[in-house]
Amino acid sequence: MDEQTKSWRIVAVRRLSEALLEALSEVAEVDYFEDVDESNRADFMAALSRAHGLIGGKLELNEAMLAEAPALQVVSTISVGYDHLPLKALNQRRILLCNTPDVLTETTADTAFMLIMATQRRLVELSNLVRDGGWRTHIGPEYFGIDVHGKTLGIVGAGRIGAAIARRGALGFGMPILYTAASSKPALEQQLGAKRRELNDLLAEADIVCLSAPYNSDTHHLIDADALARMKTTAALINIARGKVVDELALIKALHSGGIRAAGLDVFVEEPLPPDSPLAAMDNVVTTPHIGSATHETREAMAQLAVDNLLGTLIGSGPLTAVNEHVWRRADAIEET
Ligand code: DGY
Repeated sequence: MDEQTKSWRIVAVRRLSEALLEALSEVAEVDYFEDVDESNRADFMAALSRAHGLIGGKLELNEAMLAEAPALQVVSTISVGYDHLPLKALNQRRILLCNTPDVLTETTADTAFMLIMATQRRLVELSNLVRDGGWRTHIGPEYFGIDVHGKTLGIVGAGRIGAAIARRGALGFGMPILYTAASSKPALEQQLGAKRRELNDLLAEADIVCLSAPYNSDTHHLIDADALARMKTTAALINIARGKVVDELALIKALHSGGIRAAGLDVFVEEPLPPDSPLAAMDNVVTTPHIGSATHETREAMAQLAVDNLLGTLIGSGPLTAVNEHVWRRADAIEET
């Protein structure tokens, strides 16, 4: 490695494997933070102020922090979502933002289906019944669930993950598929018989509504009290997108009042979900702690892709999956300016 390349400085945040940290260390000085909190924020900021690259999961970054990081060229998030990052400010500073799409698609679709199954068949509630010694006699209708197969699955946001959920539903469970998307998806329509709908129509027709849209100003509280009121009272809402896509207070009300039957939630407005949230205590809600992509295989693949994005950007071969590739200038161009 020549001296120029070795002069990169990288800040890495949160659990990267030894092997990946070593790969970064081969080409750069690495400042590694397993976590950033009040106790080490000053050290983190000092490292960021010298850094050319920043990599990690759940990165906390804002405009003021970017102003303190004049050398920063690339932010490589170990997530597909980047709603927590200041894209506009990154664009203005011509800092490349890379994310990790594709490698998590199937795992996240598995998570959605896990929540669908658990919600329809009351898995957590009935498992708790057994664990707590409540299974004393045959199981009667008060504990029956609702079928998954054959029910109408409405997918709000049929991007890559939404399409993978649709495949599971249509091919595995014989579910009619409805979807919303900015444009029609001929492949889904031809291969799965999926039908595009306006949101309000999808909400009214679906037995299970699954949210897989990215969070942005258009999708903030997309599912509010009005939207919930359009759903069937027998329907379930599944959210693997972002908590703020749903008006959580309206959801709690709808679940309490029987406006909808159940919810399966992997994401929340506040994470970790406060233990005193009503959502944590309701029998008709299945909660998981934002584990959409959280398998060993997939988290490793995401971290590897994030490292490849970071190093590709700094060394000059280019990122593999950038959000704002238009701002990228090759490293040699940066050197010339
Ligand atoms: C993602 O990658 O965006 C997942 O939601 C995990 O944060």
